[in-house]
Amino acid sequence: MSPGKPSILVTGGAGYIGSHTVLALKQAGYDVVILDNLVYGHRDLVEKILQVELVVGDTCDRALLDDLFKTHSIDAVMHFSAYAYVGESVTDPAKYYHNNVVGTLTLLEAMLEASVKKFVFSSTCATYGVPQFVPIPEDHPQNPINPYGASKLMVERILADFDPAYDFKSVRFRYFNAAGADPSGLLGEDHNPETHLIPLVLLTALGKRESIAIFGTDYPTPDGTCIRDYIHVSDLADAHVLGLEYLLKGGNSEIFNLGNGNGFSVKEVIVAVEQVTGKVIPVQERDRRPGDPPTLIGSGEKARTILGWQPQYPNIKDIVAHAWQWHQQRHK
Ligand code: UFG
Repeated sequence: MSPGKPSILVTGGAGYIGSHTVLALKQAGYDVVILDNLVYGHRDLVEKILQVELVVGDTCDRALLDDLFKTHSIDAVMHFSAYAYVGESVTDPAKYYHNNVVGTLTLLEAMLEASVKKFVFSSTCATYGVPQFVPIPEDHPQNPINPYGASKLMVERILADFDPAYDFKSVRFRYFNAAGADPSGLLGEDHNPETHLIPLVLLTALGKRESIAIFGTDYPTPDGTCIRDYIHVSDLADAHVLGLEYLLKGGNSEIFNLGNGNGFSVKEVIVAVEQVTGKVIPVQERDRRPGDPPTLIGSGEKARTILGWQPQYPNIKDIVAHAWQWHQQRHK
């Protein structure tokens, strides 16, 4: 740790959004230590690209957390680590409530013990469930339709109660669909298993998959396929740095949607991939996937106004182009 620079503990820093945020934190001059259990995170990425300290461990391990806070002078925590497969959360909710709720509460208790009271939390648009209207503002009712969304909403509630009780300040970001890759090509999306639309379409463009399944063509949308608000992962990372700065300057607890306010259907995403890659993507039309709301579009106005957030890559073609650059390199 360098004297004078705020030190940030980033849980899940070896994962997709966490790693992009660690890069942004380093570029903004912060010291970073990553806590990651490496269930889905990548050690190589931390050691070769991010080059920050990695503590391998779980947020459910209170003894490890207490030791970490004793041996490091941490100013704030960014908490990315979570299980995030919506379908799996329906079939194995215990796994999600344990890791996402019990793990987070254990981390929060260790923070209180260590008097670290600034927290940036990864929540999700999945907490809204099926929206009553779009673009969704932060005060839209929250009725999650899967245990993943419910687990994130429970933590939001815990954080709301922690503020008045313990003067514990948090920024809660509700992400829409994170996508894309760092424009340098150093970092990108590397899930195993991969279930997300854009990487799966790109893997089809690379010939690693025969076709892309379109889950549902009978939704109440103009072309019948689901509409999502894709937000560039580097724009998410920038928002996190701004949210952290806001808390370090003494800001009050706040909730922000991180979305572009623009939606693209599954079919439009496939066309964007065809335009960027120059490849024809074979598709298979399938039944709806359980748990998918027809349309999710988020208003990012509050983050723009209060944090001064300015997404740099709101264009779906830039998002796809950066992801394509990463996937080509990753699968050389
Ligand atoms: N889709 C397909 N075929 C595929 C994969 C996805 O048609 O092979 C469709 C989905 O049905 C959905 C859209 O593409 O309509 C986007 O799906 P993703 O799996 O890429 O993303 P989700 O919208 O399901 O999930 C994302 C985040 C979750 C978050 C959720 C909120 O990954 O963490 O948004 O809805 F909870």
